[in-house]
Amino acid sequence: MGSYQFHESASILVIYALFFSFAHLLFFSPKLAIAQQGDGVSITLSDFQALLAIKRELIDQRGTLKSWNGSRNSACSGSWAGIKCIKGQVVALQLPFKALGGRISSKIGLLKELRKLSLHDNLIRGTIPSSIGSLPNLRGLYLFNNRLSGLIPPSIGSSPQLQALDLSNNFLVGSVPSTLVSSPRIYRLNLSFNSLSGLIPPSFSSSPSLTFLALEHNNFSGLVPDSWGTPSKKGGNAVYQLRSLTLDYNSLYGTIPHSLGKLGKLEELSLSHNKLNGTIPDEITRLMDLRVLDLSANGINGSFPKGFDSLKNLSTLNLKANHLSGPIPRSIGNLSSIALLDLSQNNFTGEIPTSLETLSNLTSFNVSYNHLSGQVPPRLSKKFNSSSFVGNLQLCGFSTPNPCPSPPPVMSQAPSPSFEPKATHHRRLSTKDIILIVVGSLLVILLALFCVLLCCLIRKRTASKTKNGKRGGIEKSLATVGAGAGGGAASGEAGTNGGKLVLFDGPFVFTADDLLCATAEIMGKSPFGTVYKATLEDGTQVTVKRLREKLAKSPKEFEIEVAALGRVRHQNLLPLRAYYLGPKGEKLLVSDHLSKGSLSSFLHARGQETTVDWPTRMKIAMGITRGLNHLHTQENLVHGNLTSSDIYLDEQNNPKIADYSIHRLMTDSANTNAIATAGSTGYRAPELPKSKKPTTKTDIYSLGVIILELLTGKSPSETMDGSDLPQWVASTVKEEWTNEVFELDLMRDVSSTGDEMLNTLKLALHLVDQSPDSRPDAQQVLQQLEEINPTMAAELPTEEPAEKSHH
Ligand SMILES: *[C@@H]1O[C@H](CO)[C@@H](O)[C@H](O)[C@H]1NC(C)=O
Ligand SMILES: *[C@@H]1O[C@H](CO)[C@@H](O)[C@H](O)[C@H]1NC(C)=O
Ligand SMILES: *[C@@H]1O[C@H](CO)[C@@H](O)[C@H](O)[C@H]1NC(C)=O
Ligand SMILES: *[C@@H]1O[C@H](CO)[C@@H](O)[C@H](O)[C@H]1NC(C)=O
Repeated sequence: MGSYQFHESASILVIYALFFSFAHLLFFSPKLAIAQQGDGVSITLSDFQALLAIKRELIDQRGTLKSWNGSRNSACSGSWAGIKCIKGQVVALQLPFKALGGRISSKIGLLKELRKLSLHDNLIRGTIPSSIGSLPNLRGLYLFNNRLSGLIPPSIGSSPQLQALDLSNNFLVGSVPSTLVSSPRIYRLNLSFNSLSGLIPPSFSSSPSLTFLALEHNNFSGLVPDSWGTPSKKGGNAVYQLRSLTLDYNSLYGTIPHSLGKLGKLEELSLSHNKLNGTIPDEITRLMDLRVLDLSANGINGSFPKGFDSLKNLSTLNLKANHLSGPIPRSIGNLSSIALLDLSQNNFTGEIPTSLETLSNLTSFNVSYNHLSGQVPPRLSKKFNSSSFVGNLQLCGFSTPNPCPSPPPVMSQAPSPSFEPKATHHRRLSTKDIILIVVGSLLVILLALFCVLLCCLIRKRTASKTKNGKRGGIEKSLATVGAGAGGGAASGEAGTNGGKLVLFDGPFVFTADDLLCATAEIMGKSPFGTVYKATLEDGTQVTVKRLREKLAKSPKEFEIEVAALGRVRHQNLLPLRAYYLGPKGEKLLVSDHLSKGSLSSFLHARGQETTVDWPTRMKIAMGITRGLNHLHTQENLVHGNLTSSDIYLDEQNNPKIADYSIHRLMTDSANTNAIATAGSTGYRAPELPKSKKPTTKTDIYSLGVIILELLTGKSPSETMDGSDLPQWVASTVKEEWTNEVFELDLMRDVSSTGDEMLNTLKLALHLVDQSPDSRPDAQQVLQQLEEINPTMAAELPTEEPAEKSHH
């Protein structure tokens, strides 16, 4: 199954996802699209010549490139396999899984607009042409699972737009150019399964944008770089994005760097099968998101680091085959997520802590070949066979041939203080525990069910509806990618069995294939459809909203409206990146995914110990107002259903409003129904049920409710003594209990921020005035907020490239 398996962390979901996408590729063998009208522009001469040269040097056993025929008019018409153009220039060349042999022509450097080159899973030989490095717009380069050899040309990393580079599973040799990660946008680098040697360039450890770095199964030597989390240039308090670092099966030596502890987002750290020594740095225990830690087959010594049990998300801990010693700490029983625990072939001493019995997720456990003693806790010996325990001379009770003598043997040595107390409390499962376990397992099952592939969902529907054997129609009959910011040049009428993907301006390039075969997880539902978090082939995460087919306007009207929404760009508005129109009327909207989640969950689903201070709340209120003001004054659009659930926060708590003007995509009756049900959310202006038409003033009412929500910490959907949030605030203020309305968090600094809070409260009450005409407009709200807090108004950037917050 190619290098996918080693790229991704061993999530079952991903494996399933891959299975489906592979099955699809194998079974729904690619049929060429019925020629579609392109954007009507014929290809430029140099792009045309480049494609002919590329075709000449590839060996095409299956005849995939037979479609690359005819004149310059046809190349960008959508009929050439794997070619997508914008305005007569090739932007994507994608021919994965086509059994292509031969070489990649160096003429590829002529395709100056190329953004995505995907030739993975072929039989391509020869070297990587260095001219690829001169493509100024290249964002994604996927050449994995081929037979490429020779050196990696140093030019490759010089494309300033480069985001993803995957050369894994080839025969590449030599050392790695240190400039490979010089693009400020690079987030994914996979060089695993080659024969690369020399040092791992230190620059790899100082890239703030890198999310995924895979170098396993090479012949790298020297030390593990030690500048993790340290910016290479000054002036950055950048947040380090690295989530996965895999360096297994190399010849690295020295100690595990302490600086790894600065990678606060790290989820997977694998350094197995190297020659590392020294101890496990305590800093590792700061990596709160860590799920996989594999340090097996090294020469690591010392004892278990203190504080390991704080890694609540850890599911795999593999320390096998090292020189670790000392006791297994009892606190390991607090690693509630742990599923695999391998401590075999070390020098651990003492007893196996009974706390391990409570780890309900533990499915793989191994302490064989240590110096452990005493009795194996009974529930462990029941769950795991003797091969998990053998090779400990003084351990008993794990198999019939060696029962523990009763009474259990008295250990001669006095337990040292750090040893766990001898008394073993066999904690019985309380009813609460049982309920928790049952609920937990149910959640896991539900999650697994929900995380169904988007592509399955859609494919099933299509398959069941089209009985005439046109399977895979959505995926294969793609119109050419629509152009630029407006999507105006998008054409290509959806054929009877063809879907259509239109990309708007933005950092992503993907195809309908990529989208439909992404792994998807349900994030929520709204009256108009379901929202998914989808992960594309290259690891990009996007939010996909699937509109209910019956509620949306006809494709023609839909496209006119959605083109207007796709043009909207502002730092406080979540950009729409693409839409997809399926052959059976499926409608998907693709926008950025912000992992921090919505304002609603930020305010209402946080732990009791996390507080949100006033400056943060003020910053959020200002940002939302800026976004809304832009929508109203620059775009002439009305949001229509503003709530704290469709405001997302980036890492710096900058708000981004999503789902603006979705009502314009829906039928009138769908909108009437949505307005009727929106009452329960608490954001609906009082005049809306009658007027049935959202206006800027109904948006202002919703904004007022959100500011009240920020001030009170109360969710507007809960009623207080029968009144809604604005009524409750108004009556409390009238009774001169003003301080009662503010959330407790805010009262700590009330001496310094009290005036600001009070003035904001007055403003918010003005916004929720029952009479629409009395409400100010967004521009005035913004002015007043800026008067309330002039310093923050000055601090915030007014103009920022829309893509900046996104890598
Ligand atoms: C070009 O290729 C297409 C698809 O293989 C085929 O249908 C068409 O007849 C070819 N045209 C010419 C001029 O060879
Ligand atoms: C790996 O590198 C070492 C020297 O660092 C060399 O002796 C060894 O032959 C190399 N192995 C392979 C498979 O290239
Ligand atoms: C013990 O269990 C492991 C996996 O759980 C299995 O692979 C192995 O065959 C079992 N060994 C014996 C002796 O039953
Ligand atoms: C436990 O580890 C030993 C040595 O590392 C290995 O031989 C054995 O198969 C493992 N048993 C299980 C159940 O994983």
